[in-house]
Amino acid sequence: MLNFNYYNPTKLVFGKDTIKTIGGHVKSFGVKKVLFLYGKNSIFKNGVYDTVVASLKENNIEFIEVSGVKPNPVLSKVHEAIQVVRENNLDGIVAVGGGSVVDSAKAIAAGTFYDGDVWDIFEGKAQVTKALPIFPVLTISATGSEMNNGGVITNEAEGKKWGFGSPLLFPKVSILDPTVQATLPTIQTVNGAVDGLSHVFEAYFGGTSNTDMEDELSEGIIRTIMKHTRVLINDPSNYDSRSELAWSATLALNGINGVGRRGDWSSHGIEHGVSVFNDIAHGSGLAIVMPAWMKYVHSCWPEKFARFGENIFGITEGSIEEKGLKAIEALRAFYNEIGAPITLKEVGVAKKDLDFIADTVAKQGPLGSLKSLDRDDVYKILEIAFE
Ligand code: NZQ
Ligand code: ZN
Repeated sequence: MLNFNYYNPTKLVFGKDTIKTIGGHVKSFGVKKVLFLYGKNSIFKNGVYDTVVASLKENNIEFIEVSGVKPNPVLSKVHEAIQVVRENNLDGIVAVGGGSVVDSAKAIAAGTFYDGDVWDIFEGKAQVTKALPIFPVLTISATGSEMNNGGVITNEAEGKKWGFGSPLLFPKVSILDPTVQATLPTIQTVNGAVDGLSHVFEAYFGGTSNTDMEDELSEGIIRTIMKHTRVLINDPSNYDSRSELAWSATLALNGINGVGRRGDWSSHGIEHGVSVFNDIAHGSGLAIVMPAWMKYVHSCWPEKFARFGENIFGITEGSIEEKGLKAIEALRAFYNEIGAPITLKEVGVAKKDLDFIADTVAKQGPLGSLKSLDRDDVYKILEIAFE
């Protein structure tokens, strides 16, 4: 296990009927006039909008709305919202939606206090020195953004989907009521599950040995996500499974599952390049890319892939190498079973597009910790992912 500091100041308020408490939490931080940020229309359909508005009004919190944050959120919307925050002297952000809304809130929170273009922070040309307090109301479990300090935004003009982070960007309070996720289309539940699994895999297969505690925790999260995703596909309103999936997805990337070891994160880097190309949902992209990455690198750590096969899929037959390969196929079969795409071809990518995607990914520099990947490696992984 490597040395680590573990720090997570976000208060997570979890469970049924918790959304109506949002106004009180905002008020308790002395915040008086917020940006109310959300996506397109899901929060009108499932009543979340009305509940949030009522709670803010009850607590005398003024608000100004900015809507239209899209999946794979874009920099231009962040710029627009920063302008609104400045013009109206807003002192906090209530971010209602999924990772795209919460990540946008983080960029707005930091960008409000930065004189230049907030994109400088993504490029490493500037640091976050101050940020507005953020209060997410999460409506889809996937990214862990509700309880971590990172975000991912697409700079559509430059064709880059990049991440950033700062200790100042942990949400103050996040509300997570799993009941409101019953309205998710099945594919969005699946995308969230795949994203949660992938966050665990990035740490689990990152290359650091002697991390038994973390490996046991990881395998528990993996099994829980798989079990309850299967339930939710047939029974989307099942509250018990919604809460198991929700809490697992938060734990997958709130830091606790990654401590003491390096994360690999190359599959995420590659997926972000795919998203820039065809705006595919992040989870769908990961279902395609991550097993391809596993096939490409598994010989770097056959024992770990064999352990994964034994402990997750019960694979006990064959050599260490064979068990690992069978495990990767079992993971692809699971993704296929739950309706996630498993090839680039089926999401409309043509063979000739792989060069463009590899070039986009290469803008991030070399990727990976289990195996360092350059542009040629990325291209080969995309070839495996193609069909
Ligand atoms: O816009 P609306 O109408 O609200 O619809 C949304 C959106 O279309 C819909 N939705 C959300 N809650 C719903 C619902 N529909 C019905 N009922 C509900 N209760 O779901 C769609 C997807 O929303 P989005 O916020 O994009 O999903 P997700 O949470 O998966 O976020 C994905 C983004 O987060 C980034 C991804 O790259 C991607 O841009 N990530 C952020 C991370 C982080 N901050 O730590 C880490 C991740 O690895 C990831 O990269
Ligand atoms: Zn992810």
